Amino acid sequence: MDIYFAPMQGVTGWPFRLTHLKHYGGVDRYYMPFISVHQSRSMKGGEKRDMDPSHNEMGRMVPQLLPAGAEDTLIYMDMIRSAGYGEVSLNLGCPARTVVTKGKGAGMLADTGRLDEFLEHLFTGMERVCNGGLSSDERSLRVTVKTRVGMNDTDQIGELIRIYNRYPIAEVQVHARLGKDAYNGVPDWEAFGRFYEKSTHPVCYNGDIRSMEDFQKLLEEFPDLPAVMIGRGLVADPMLAEKIRSGMQSDSMLTEQERLIHFHDDICSAWYECYGQEHAAICRMLEIWDYLGASFPGCERKIRKIRKARSLQTYRQLAGEVLRQEYRPGYLTGSLQ
Ligand SMILES: Cc1cc2nc3c(=O)[nH]c(=O)nc-3n(C[C@H](O)[C@H](O)[C@H](O)COP(=O)(O)O)c2cc1C
Repeated sequence: MDIYFAPMQGVTGWPFRLTHLKHYGGVDRYYMPFISVHQSRSMKGGEKRDMDPSHNEMGRMVPQLLPAGAEDTLIYMDMIRSAGYGEVSLNLGCPARTVVTKGKGAGMLADTGRLDEFLEHLFTGMERVCNGGLSSDERSLRVTVKTRVGMNDTDQIGELIRIYNRYPIAEVQVHARLGKDAYNGVPDWEAFGRFYEKSTHPVCYNGDIRSMEDFQKLLEEFPDLPAVMIGRGLVADPMLAEKIRSGMQSDSMLTEQERLIHFHDDICSAWYECYGQEHAAICRMLEIWDYLGASFPGCERKIRKIRKARSLQTYRQLAGEVLRQEYRPGYLTGSLQ
C-alpha cells in the first residue's frame, strides 16, 4: 500500500517536504498545497517557488491545482507538465467558505452536472492543450482527484462516483467528510465504502489517520486499499509512515524524540533560508505546532509561550524546551469508528 503526505496549505511547503524526506522514510508521495487557477493564467511567486523542480524530488512530489474554469485549468496543467511533472492533483475538496462560494474546491461537488461538464471539457482539452504535438511517451500527465464524499449531503454520492468513473482519472483520493463539515465530526466510513466498492479507479482513503491503531482499523475495514493519505497525523508524528511501513511502534522513544528534535531544527533553518525573515519562519513553525503540540500532553502553557516568540533565537529556545518533555507521538487518537 502506498502512503501519501496530504497537502496542507501553510504547513507542507517545499522546505517542510524536503526536510521530512531527508529525516523520515515511509512516504511514497508528497502532495503540494494547492495552486489557485486564475483567469490571469499566472502563478504567484510563492506558488512558483513551491513547485519549482529544484525544490522538489520529481516523481515523489506532486503539484495540486484548485481548479476554476476548464480552459484556465488546462493552461496550468500544461505549465505543470512542461516543468516535468508526471501527475497533477485536482482539489475538489477545499471547504473554505471563500472557495466554496465561488463554486470551487468542495463547492464543485454541489452541482454534479457542472462537475461533469468541467471534467468532460478538461479531459477533451488535455489532448489539445497539454498533449498537442507530443509523442505518446510524453503524454504522461496523470490526473488524480482529491474529493470529499459530497458538499452538503451524501445523496449524490452514487452520481459523483459515476461521474468520476467516466473519465481517465488515475486515482480518486477521498477525504471521507462532507465539504460542509470542513474538519468537524468523524470521517464517514460508510460513504467512503461506496467509493471503495463502486469506483473503477484506484481509491485512496484520507481522514483522521493519526496512529498505527487507526491505520490497522482502516485496513481491517478496507483490506484491498491501494493507498492512504495522511496529513495532520504525520505532522503530529512525522515518523508515522515509517512505523506503518515497518508494522511496529518505535522501539526506542528516546531515539524517536532525538530524531524529532533534529527534524524540527532543520525545518526551522529551512523556512528561515526560504524567507530570509525571522518573523515569517516563526509563523510557519507555529502552524506545525497546531498539530505537533498534541504530541506533548501537558505542555499547553509552554506552547502558548512559544506562540509569543518574536525572535528565532527565543523561538528555538522555547520550542527546544517543549521538545524535550514527555513525548507521546500522535497523542490525538481515538476518534475513528
Ligand atoms: C491547515 C490545512 C491545510 C490544508 N491544505 C490543503 C490543500 O492545500 N489541498 C488539499 O487538497 N487539502 C488540504 N487540506 C486537507 C488535507 O489535505 C486533508 O485532506 C485533511 O487534513 C484530512 O486528512 P488528515 O485527517 O489526515 O489531516 C488542508 C488541511 C489543513 C488542516
